[in-house]
Amino acid sequence: MDKLIIEGGEPLRGTVPISGAKNAALPLLMATIVAPGEHRLANLPELADVESMLSLLGRIGCPSLIGPIVRIDTSRVAWCEAPYDLVRKMRASVLALGPLLARCGEAHVSLPGGCAIGVRPIDQHLKGLEALGCTFRMENGYVHGKVDQLRGAEMRLDMPTVTGTENILMAAVLADGHTVIDNAAAEPEVEELGAFLNALGAKVEGAGTPTIRIQGVTSLAPPTRPWSILPDRIETGTYLVAAAITGGDITCENARAGDLVAVLNILEQAGCTVERGEDSIRVARTGPILPVDITTAPHPGFPTDMQAQLMALLSLAGGDSRIRETIFENRFMHVAELLRLGARIDINLNLATVHGVRGLQGATVMATDLRASASLVLAGLAAQGRTEILRIYHLDRGYEKLAEKLSAVGARVRRGEEGRPG
Ligand code: EPZ
Repeated sequence: MDKLIIEGGEPLRGTVPISGAKNAALPLLMATIVAPGEHRLANLPELADVESMLSLLGRIGCPSLIGPIVRIDTSRVAWCEAPYDLVRKMRASVLALGPLLARCGEAHVSLPGGCAIGVRPIDQHLKGLEALGCTFRMENGYVHGKVDQLRGAEMRLDMPTVTGTENILMAAVLADGHTVIDNAAAEPEVEELGAFLNALGAKVEGAGTPTIRIQGVTSLAPPTRPWSILPDRIETGTYLVAAAITGGDITCENARAGDLVAVLNILEQAGCTVERGEDSIRVARTGPILPVDITTAPHPGFPTDMQAQLMALLSLAGGDSRIRETIFENRFMHVAELLRLGARIDINLNLATVHGVRGLQGATVMATDLRASASLVLAGLAAQGRTEILRIYHLDRGYEKLAEKLSAVGARVRRGEEGRPG
């Protein structure tokens, strides 16, 4: 397994090109299933999760051709199954449920199971799809769904689940009649999915707001022009924190400040200067890092996917910061590793109190999940000396060309092989 070796202490300066959003690419790849034909997607990030999703499409009979424009042919769907060996690697494969039910009237999807950050149930996905007329049974670790005719319905989700909203949306576009999803997730990636579905001929209003209205249609087709995936707001936020934590100055190009309002506000409160451009964001820090209190929330609140990264920054603040994680039940896996780098953090249930320290020292640490790994990279960039991060396959799931992008702004970082010296 690979590791990342970082010699910390360098202020990072320069520009970072932002890639397409992982959490938009994954639902959009599944959405191609509801519109038979050849799809063309641009700005698809080269990530392990995207590769997994493309192999899932291949498994169901939809081949793809990789390149600057990725072509996916969904003319035929031969199998309606998302098998365990794929789903266990990437729980977002559950996004096959809605599209397969809409396309084939049946779906057999391995239950995703939990992951490091939580149990990750899918009860809301099933509740919404049942409201559209689907029936489900669980057997041998799979959820087996079927439906004769999807029918529009009005529903209210118990919580604004992102992939739950996306699964229901991808089925409702082909339902007979009108659907309203209330308490829907309002993330920019949901808005992007709604816009993509409309490019296929769907009639979706309000995607990206808490109430989505869909008028079902009888068929959909690939858009005439290639669709370009929106930039990844979490990748953007991660590099902006890299500027903040190293006392540097980074401009993220192809970045949308409107998708990161809560994060940019926190960075300003923490003592950074923030410049919001048309399609770029610049963050610099010269003064001290100031303590800040954060509570994660559904969009447009502070994103849980940026919690670990801000915790790394605030571990160097001049005072105590309180970080409350309200979305996932176990999203403090990075704390134990940050402590190894010299941070001082106390946890009480879903509240982490970060006692800022003057500096961090390099050490060998273990990545546990995608955003926790990003937090360790950021801490390593600021720490004095060498940090080695093991199991960086977690990072490869969500950050395209991480080492190259960091090196281009002055970081001393390279990949190595676990078990081999430096
Ligand atoms: C999406 O996961 C993202 N993944 C996650 O990003 C992100 O952290 C999360 O949304 C929250 O923003 C993708 O978009 C592929 P949820 P998702 O359903 O949809 C509970 C990353 O780092 N819940 O919005 O799985 C659930 O347990 C990843 O890129 C139910 O109880 O998250 C959680 O507590 C990590 N029942 C909360 O809702 C359900 O049926 C929010 O989960 C569904 C969810």
